Amino acid sequence: MNKVKIFDTTLRDGEQSPGCSMNLSEKIEVARALEKLRVDVIEAGFAISSPGDFESVKTIAETVKDCTVASLARATVGDIDAAWEAVKGAADPRIHTFIATSPLHMEYKLRMTPDEVYETVQKMVSYAAKYCKNVEFSAEDATRSDWDFLRKVVNAAIKCGATVINLPDTVGYTTPAEMRALIEYVMAGVEHPDGVEFSVHCHNDLGMATANSLAGVLGGARQVECTINGLGERAGNSALEEIVMALHTRPDVYRANTRLDTTQIYRASKLVYNIIGQTAPINKPIVGKNAFAHEAGIHQHGVLANRMTYEILTPEAVGIHANSIVLGKHSGKHAFESRLHELGYNLGPEELVSCFEEFKVLCDKKKSINDADIEAIVMHRSRTDESVSGYELDWFAAHTSNFTTSTSTVCLKLDGEKFEGVALGDGPIDASFKAIDGIVKPGEHTFDIYSINSISEGKDTLGDVTVKLSAGGRSYSGKGLSTDIIEASITAYLTALNKMRAAGMAAEPAKEE
Ligand code: KIV
Ligand code: ZN
Repeated sequence: MNKVKIFDTTLRDGEQSPGCSMNLSEKIEVARALEKLRVDVIEAGFAISSPGDFESVKTIAETVKDCTVASLARATVGDIDAAWEAVKGAADPRIHTFIATSPLHMEYKLRMTPDEVYETVQKMVSYAAKYCKNVEFSAEDATRSDWDFLRKVVNAAIKCGATVINLPDTVGYTTPAEMRALIEYVMAGVEHPDGVEFSVHCHNDLGMATANSLAGVLGGARQVECTINGLGERAGNSALEEIVMALHTRPDVYRANTRLDTTQIYRASKLVYNIIGQTAPINKPIVGKNAFAHEAGIHQHGVLANRMTYEILTPEAVGIHANSIVLGKHSGKHAFESRLHELGYNLGPEELVSCFEEFKVLCDKKKSINDADIEAIVMHRSRTDESVSGYELDWFAAHTSNFTTSTSTVCLKLDGEKFEGVALGDGPIDASFKAIDGIVKPGEHTFDIYSINSISEGKDTLGDVTVKLSAGGRSYSGKGLSTDIIEASITAYLTALNKMRAAGMAAEPAKEE
């Protein structure tokens, strides 16, 4: 069996795509989940791109112990300096430098000749290798590059100290057969292959990212770059969960495995969706709601007789546990805790108490509590940055109809004082947010994301709201969870505003004389 390393770029290629931005504490949570998942490399960001990115790469490098931590860098001195400054505190730091090698990119984007690109690769890989023995070189748009030029550049990069050579399908253009042939061709031309690892990085523009990455493995790649849930530029990158479970399910074909703890896949997927305020499409492989559901009678019959008739992998293998017990208001702390254990959560005593309190509140509103509800409570409670102090909701009263303008009155508490705001709005949520704005007076900011998802089936389902705001180049997020979606929205908005306020981005309340 060959070992395939998993290089996760959720925090770089994933995070840089629209609607997927994360703040520092969210990135740290994802990095911790990736470490638990046992990925080999975490690409924590693109250090030069912003002070926020630099800070998060540096913090992750200093936090994570069991994975290599990489920062992306263009092939320039400034980028490589910043990447090294950010990752040098890691247990195993890596500089990942890249330059485009396709005629189109060299001529129109870089405005460089092939000779200039070749020279730059030599200079910049040598420069990075002075800092760090773990240097990855990526030939951007490799799949649309001239294969002989690619070989020449790759050999130069290796001679100058690159230990990992990555061939990205930057625009999701290649095919599995072509990807395998490209890897084989370039590898066959490597003059000093010892200690050099080949890698693939595929985008999903034609829905081929997983197939192309796996073809790369068949061609000899020993590192696959991918993201949780396939987040990434445009149609995304290849999805980690698909790559890992394909290798896991077909060792007879790929003759390769990974070191990952596959039972952490579902939780990592949920965490990332939760942070970006989305849910998996129901038919998403591995992590979608229907990925292990069998509706057709003939399928159900087969699965009952032998699961393998229609299941090539078990839900348990990715950390999904059968929903055998439904809890309710008569369930005690012990039952709640043991269900949490079965779901793979080991909470500390304080976290357990606060989750149990939230569970009891929910029991008064909802007759039966299933696993999705419990996971939502834990996820909501355990978010490390949700506890920022500031305004709290005392009460609200919203009025809405389909023939009048909605109004909302909101009463907030801050340091023992109460503040009331009232506003009209386009619907009760807009009215409530405007009433809050009248009290909190947030400074200049943009309202980036409002999303609402239902946690489970039924009319009494929990509404899970995500709000993301940005101000001064930083993003502030808030989550709200309630069977009342206006309350969940207010909580999410207030949490995000409190974080903005804690960063000095909102006015202090006017004191009444
Ligand atoms: O898609 C791509 O080419 C990249 C490189 C920077 C590795 O993300
Ligand atoms: Zn990419």
